[in-house]
Formats: sequence, C-alpha cells, structure tokens
Amino acid sequence: MSAAQKVVVITGASQGIGAELVKGFRERNYRVVATARSIKPSDDKDILTVAGDIADPDTARRVIAEAVAKFGRIDTLVNNAGVFVAKPFTSYTAEDYATVTGINLTGFFHITQLAIAEMEKNRSGHVVSITTSLVDHANSNVPSVLASLTKGGLNAATKSLAIEYAKTGIRANAVSPGIIKSPMHPQETHAALGAMHPLGHMGEMRDIVDAVLYLDSAPFVTGEILHVDGGQSAGH
Ligand SMILES: NC(=O)c1ccc[n+]([C@@H]2O[C@H](COP(=O)([O-])OP(=O)(O)OC[C@H]3O[C@@H](n4cnc5c(N)ncnc54)[C@H](OP(=O)(O)O)[C@@H]3O)[C@@H](O)[C@H]2O)c1
Repeated sequence: MSAAQKVVVITGASQGIGAELVKGFRERNYRVVATARSIKPSDDKDILTVAGDIADPDTARRVIAEAVAKFGRIDTLVNNAGVFVAKPFTSYTAEDYATVTGINLTGFFHITQLAIAEMEKNRSGHVVSITTSLVDHANSNVPSVLASLTKGGLNAATKSLAIEYAKTGIRANAVSPGIIKSPMHPQETHAALGAMHPLGHMGEMRDIVDAVLYLDSAPFVTGEILHVDGGQSAGH
C-alpha cells in the first residue's frame, strides 16, 4: 500500500449521493470502503464493499475492522446513510421513530466512535456528516420533526466532536443540503421541489460531493455546518 494513499469510509454508498461520493473520492485517488445494505462487490481493487444495516452496531464493527485489515488506516469517514420521513408529528409511529433514529443517529454513533478511535492512533482524521438544511428553516408544508431531531442532533454533535478532538488532529464538519436530485425524489416532483429554494432549482448530487471534498481538503476548517441549499437557510 502506498503510504500517501488516503482511505475514506462512506456509508449509504449503494446509490444516490453516497454512490457519487465513492466516485468523487476515487477521482482524488482515495481508497474507498463503501457500505450500505445492498452494496455490491466492486471490480476496482481500491474499493472495498461491506454490506450491512448501519443501525446495527455489528455493521460498524465489521466496516471498520475490514477497512483497517485491508487498507491499514482510516483518514475520513462520511456519514451519508440517512432516511427522511415527513409526517405530521402525531402521525409518526413507533416504527418510524425506531427507523429514523436507528439509521440517522445510532448509525452515526457506532461507526463514528470506531473510526475516531482509529484516527486517534494516527493523530489525524476527518468526520463529515450529511445533515439537512430543513433543520434551520422548518416548513409547515413539510412537517418532519424526526428529520430535525436526528439531523439537528448531528449538526450539534459535529460541533461537539470538532471541539473535543481539535487538539488531536481530527476535524469534524457537516454538509447541510437543500433538496437534491437523488433517487429519493422522483422526476415528477422536481419542479415543485425546486421552487422551494431561493435559487429556484434543486441541487445536483455533485454539489454535495464537491462540498465534502472541499471540507476534506480544508485543514483549517472544523465545526463547520456547510449549507449547500440554494439559499434556503438564509431565508425565503
Ligand atoms: N436527496 C435530498 O434531497 C437530501 C436532502 C437533505 C439531506 N439528504 C441526506 O443525504 C444523504 C443521502 O441521501 P440520498 O438522497 O442519496 O438518499 P438515497 O438515494 O435514498 O440513498 C440512501 C442511502 O442510504 C442507504 N441506507 C438507507 N438505510 C440504510 C440502512 N438501514 N443501513 C445502511 N444503509 C442504509 C441506502 O442504501 P441501502 O438501501 O442499500 O441500504 C442508500 O445507499 C442522507 O443522509 C439524506 O438524509 C438528502
């Protein structure tokens, strides 16, 4: 293994923004550990795939153990796996609560703990979490308390981690998207969703990838919640 070749772990990497993140980091010559429930093996020898449910702590354990066994180090973790369930508050079921907190929060917690423990050994590393701009501008047309509860928690945890690890060479940042053209949103919804942004259109998956890559190459930036949201968090 080349000592200079960095290693990134990306969750939710089977489709959408996560799959584009895999491409973006490979373009920068990172070795990639990609995980999701339905992730398939790759022909690229610099991509290791590990299938599993990120809400299960055993998935986090396997991903980090296999990453270290194969590539020897972890430089970056991108917490991208996430689900969005929009409902009036009193309509959420116990299953909705368990699903959304399981993937968005428990999924973040276990793999981030294990990844930072590896990063501490090298006194270097970066954790980036994908949250949502909706946290900063709740919309009565899109009631989604579970998104605010979980992704808002990730924004707060990002700042907390940034400060806790600031002296150890480990940075923590978040990218806070507006509504992005990913498989999450069928084509027929794009015009209406685009109109919800001051810039008048949805974002592209590459907008999020570029923001993550910027943060990963920005050694003086930590504790940042980078909004890539067509102006939504600034106002309407
Ligand atoms: N698209 C948007 O408009 C938007 C806006 C704001 C924030 N975001 C955030 O951006 C991130 C990526 O969203 P996306 O639009 O790319 O969504 P997506 O197309 O629905 O992809 C979600 C990814 O998460 C994985 N995933 C879901 N449940 C999982 C589980 N239990 N265990 C492991 N992996 C799981 C999926 O893989 P498997 O099904 O194979 O497990 C898939 O790879 C999410 O955190 C989302 O909240 C998206």
